[in-house]
Amino acid sequence: MTRDIQKLLKEMSLEEKAGLCSGDSWWYTKGIEHLDIPSIMMSDGPHGLRKQQEVADHLGQNESVEAICFPTGSALASSWDREIINKLGKALGEECQAENISILLGPGANIKRSPLCGRNFEYLSEDPYLASELAVSYIKGVQSMGVGTSLKHYAVNNQEHRRLSTSAEVDERTLREIYLSAFEKAVKEAQPWTVMCAYNQVNGEYCSENKYLLTEILKEEWGHQGFVVSDWGAVNNRVEGLAAGMELEMPSSHGEGTERIIKAVNKGELSEEILNKAVERILNIVFKAVENNREDVSYDKEAHHQLARSIAAECMVLLKNEDKILPLKKAGKITVAGAFAKNPRYQGGGSSHINSTKLDKAFDEITKIAGDNTKIEYAAGYSLEKDEIETELIAEAMQKAENSDLAIIFVGLPDRYESEGYDRESIAIPQNQQHLIEKIAEVQENIVVVLSNGSPIEMPWAGKVKGIIEGYLGGQASGGAVADILFGKVNPSGKLAETFPVKLSDNPSYLNFPGEGDKVQYREGIFVGYRYYDTKEIRPLFPFGYGLSYTDFEYSDIKVDKKKITDHEELTVTVKVKNIGSRTGKEIVQLYIRDPESTVIKAYKELKGFAKIELEAGEEKEVSFTLNKRSFAYYNVELKDWHVESGEYEILVGSSSRDIRLKEMVKVQSTVKISKEITINTNLGDLIGKPETKGLIDKLISSSKIEEVLGGVDNEMTAMMIKYMPLRSLAILGKGTISRKMIESIIAEWNSSIDY
Ligand code: GLC
Repeated sequence: MTRDIQKLLKEMSLEEKAGLCSGDSWWYTKGIEHLDIPSIMMSDGPHGLRKQQEVADHLGQNESVEAICFPTGSALASSWDREIINKLGKALGEECQAENISILLGPGANIKRSPLCGRNFEYLSEDPYLASELAVSYIKGVQSMGVGTSLKHYAVNNQEHRRLSTSAEVDERTLREIYLSAFEKAVKEAQPWTVMCAYNQVNGEYCSENKYLLTEILKEEWGHQGFVVSDWGAVNNRVEGLAAGMELEMPSSHGEGTERIIKAVNKGELSEEILNKAVERILNIVFKAVENNREDVSYDKEAHHQLARSIAAECMVLLKNEDKILPLKKAGKITVAGAFAKNPRYQGGGSSHINSTKLDKAFDEITKIAGDNTKIEYAAGYSLEKDEIETELIAEAMQKAENSDLAIIFVGLPDRYESEGYDRESIAIPQNQQHLIEKIAEVQENIVVVLSNGSPIEMPWAGKVKGIIEGYLGGQASGGAVADILFGKVNPSGKLAETFPVKLSDNPSYLNFPGEGDKVQYREGIFVGYRYYDTKEIRPLFPFGYGLSYTDFEYSDIKVDKKKITDHEELTVTVKVKNIGSRTGKEIVQLYIRDPESTVIKAYKELKGFAKIELEAGEEKEVSFTLNKRSFAYYNVELKDWHVESGEYEILVGSSSRDIRLKEMVKVQSTVKISKEITINTNLGDLIGKPETKGLIDKLISSSKIEEVLGGVDNEMTAMMIKYMPLRSLAILGKGTISRKMIESIIAEWNSSIDY
C-alpha cells in the first residue's frame, strides 16, 4: 500500500521531520507512531549478516546473531562470476528477511589503491569495471529479495590510516575513471536503496557534507533515488551535510543532529524544502522496506553453508601447479602443516565480522575427502598469536613432512595483520610461517601452499613449492572448499581481481601511502594496479586476471561485427574458446581495450569486458562482448563528460591481463567535436598539423623569414624549434614583415570560420 508522503510531510512537525534524519539508535531508523511510520533496522554486511540483538557496535566486538559467513570481497571478486555473486545476494537477502533486517550494509566497492589497506579483504578489485559489474550483481541479488543495500564507502575511501580525518587529494579525471565509476554503474544499473558516505574527506571536504559528490554527481548526474546514510559517526556538520545531500545520520546522535537542523530551519539558515526532500527520500525507502518485508521467513542454514562452500571453491585461485602436482591422489602419506589448517582464518576483523553458524576446518575436510587409503599427519608449525619461530614446532613439521609423500602448508595473514581500523605495515606473512615453508622445503620437494589472506602478499618462497592456491578469506566453508579443490572434486576457476606485486615498492601508491598528516595525495592518478604495472612494464608476481585450471583453454576466431563505429554505436566482439584438456573446467575470458593513438595520457590497456564460461573436455563455445561508448571513453575534465577520441583502438582478448591471446582493431569516430580557440599562443606546429590552417600558416612562416633568423630554411633544427613556437613569435622573431596586429586579425578570421 503506497503512502502519500507529501500528505505525511504536511502532517509532520518540524521536530518530527528533523528527527527522521537521524537514527533512533545504533541500527534503527526513527519511527513516528501516530503517523504510522515504522522504524526499520539495518545491519552489516557485506559477506554475511551481522545483526546485533543486544550491545551494538560498529567494529564487530560484540556478539551478533548466528549467520552464514560467506567468502569476503576479495575472494568473491576472484570468482569473476556475476551469476554466483547474484546468488550470494539472494541468499543474504533471505537471511535478512528471516532476521527482519531491511537494509544490508554492503557491498564495499572501494578500489584497491594499495595492498596495505586494512579493509582490502572487504573490497572487490583494483579495476573499476570488474568492481562495478560485481557490485551490480550483488545489489540486484539482495534487493530481489525485498531487502535494501548500502553501496559503500562513497567515496575514495582506500585506507584505514586516519580514516575519519584524512583527505584524499585526487584529480577529477582519476576520481571519475577510477574511484567513482564502480559506484556510478552500481547506482545507474542497480539503484541501491542507500549509499553510505565515507568517513574521509575528498579534496578537503568531508564526504558526509560534500555536495559535489552527494548531490551533483550521485543524485543529479547518476539519478540515485534512495537516500545517503552516513558511515557510523561520519557526520561532521549535520546542517551542511543535510544541505549537501546526506539524508540519514547514523547512529543516533541523541538529538544533537536533530536540534541543529531545527535551529537552522528556524533561523532561516536551512530551507525547509531541503529537509522535506530528505525526509521524502528516507520515507520512500522505509515504506518500500515495509512493503517488501516478509513475515515468517526462515532459511536452511545447511543449504546456505553448502552454498558458501561452492562459492568459495569458485573464488579460489590456482596460482602455481608445477609438475601437475594438483589435484592430489587419494593415496600415500600427506603432512598437513600450519595452524590455519585447524584454526582457519576465514574472514576479516571489524564491522563485517560474522558469528558464523559453523566452521569447516581444512584438516578435517582433507581427512574426510582423502579417504582411508591416505594417511594424513598434522603439524602446527607455528603459533598464530606471535611471529616468533618456535624450533620444536618447526622440527616436528620437518620430521613429518620428510616422511611423507607430500606436504600441504597452510599460511597467510593472522587477524592482527589486517583489519578494519588499521592498515598493514608490509605485505609479508609472519616470519614463523615463512620459515616453516623454507624448512619443509629442505626435506620435501612436493609442497602445496594454501593461502588465507585478505590482500596480496609477497612470496619469496614461491620457487621452492610446486603448488600455490590463493584461498583468500573464504568464509566458514572454506575448509571444505579447499579440500574439494586439492583433490579435484572442483576444478579451480578463480582469477586474481588484483595484482600481486613482487615487492611492495613496485606498487604505484607506494610513495604516497598513507599520506602525510591528514592529506593523502593520489599522485599515481589513473595508474592503479595493472594500469600501472602494464604501462611501466613492471613484472608482477602474479598479474591481474591470472589463475590456472586443471584443464587448458584455446582461443580462436576473434571477430567484430563492424570495423568502424561512431561513439553512438555498439560493437559486438566474438571469440571462440575451446577446452583442450581432459576435464570440464571454467574459463574467465577477458577483454581489454588499448588506445595506441591517444593524445591524452592513458594506461596501456583497460578491462572492458569479461565472461566466465564452463566447457566440457573438447567443448568449444563462442563468447560475445558488447562494447559501447564507455568502453572507449576517458573522462575529459574540460568537457566535464566522457569523451571518445576518434581513431583506431585495439581489442585484446585473453586469459589474463598478461596473457593476451587474440587481437582485433576497430576504428571509432567521435561525434563530439572538441573545438578550441586559436590564440596568439597557439603553437605553430599545431597549426601546421591541421589541414584547415596549414596553408596559411606555412605562408605566414615563410613571409616572416623566421627560419632565416633561426638558422636557415630546410634546416632540421629550425623546423623542430619552430614547431613549438607560439604564433606571436612570427612578429617578434621574424624580420618584422608580420605584425602582431596582422596575426590577431588572422586568428579572428580562423576562429569565426573553422572548427579547430
Ligand atoms: C563501520 C564501517 C561501515 C559499517 C558501519 C556500521 O565503521 O566503516 O562499513 O557498515 O560502520 O557498522
